[in-house]
Amino acid sequence: MLALTLTGLKLRNPLMLAAGIMGTTGGSLKRVAEGGAGAVVTKSIGKEPRRGHSNPSMIEVDSGYLNAMGLPNPSYRDFQGEIERAREAGVPVIASIFGGSTEEFLEIAGALRADAFELNLSCPHACGYGAEIGTRPDLVEEIARAVKSTARSPVWVKLTPNVTDIKSIGLAAQRGGADAVVAINTVRGMAIDIESGYPILGNRFGGLSGRAIKPVAIRCVYDLYEALDIPVIGVGGISDWRDAIEFIMAGARAVEIGSAVGNNINIFSDISSCMREFLVEKEWTLNDIYGMAHEL
Ligand code: SIN
Repeated sequence: MLALTLTGLKLRNPLMLAAGIMGTTGGSLKRVAEGGAGAVVTKSIGKEPRRGHSNPSMIEVDSGYLNAMGLPNPSYRDFQGEIERAREAGVPVIASIFGGSTEEFLEIAGALRADAFELNLSCPHACGYGAEIGTRPDLVEEIARAVKSTARSPVWVKLTPNVTDIKSIGLAAQRGGADAVVAINTVRGMAIDIESGYPILGNRFGGLSGRAIKPVAIRCVYDLYEALDIPVIGVGGISDWRDAIEFIMAGARAVEIGSAVGNNINIFSDISSCMREFLVEKEWTLNDIYGMAHEL
């Protein structure tokens, strides 16, 4: 009842692990998949190993988390084994990748084997990467086109909400041949310690995730659904089954869950069984509710 095909990938349900949470090792990705996720997305992987920003790199704030991890990762050269281990769980494994140039994206996508690539063009706090590229439609189109022309797997582009018009970035990804867009990455934010007067995060500013950003993400998904022909994957503040339903009604084909996995690793099976019950009670299918909020 919840199964679907997304950019050619067969998913048992529309609930995926978002990049950045439990995605650094094959063992943790496998654990999440065994906990009921329809697919899992790795931590963002780049060309060279990175230590990331100095601590504190993640703090809890009202209704969410602020992070400035700084894209720590072991490099794609040391990551294929983790993907293979995650694959043992039998669900699609999507590699989140980042680069500072088209060439870097091409190098990584050409070397890694994954069921799909999610291009991180949206991290809000890494100099030369992520949103510094992903706020420019010309570069988004160029990178999507280049990766699509060589990748053997579907290409998804993860978008930043920190722009005036997310539709123009989504359209650029679509023009470049992306198979789907993922909306949204974190919202730029910061917190200050009033005892010292200093910013709390080691990087001073970071990205807000969790419940606080859900309405922002819903609006972005709603707008992208209207503007694009390719599927929109929703992410941002999903904490329970009602949130997942809301995203699908806004126009998400599938959703990713991040921050809330920290409180409940079995959130995927919990959400999918409640979604199933809800759909049965309403006598709706997943297709019936897809984009339902646009029908009025
Ligand atoms: C990070 O590792 O810095 C977070 C990634 C992101 O915000 O895209």
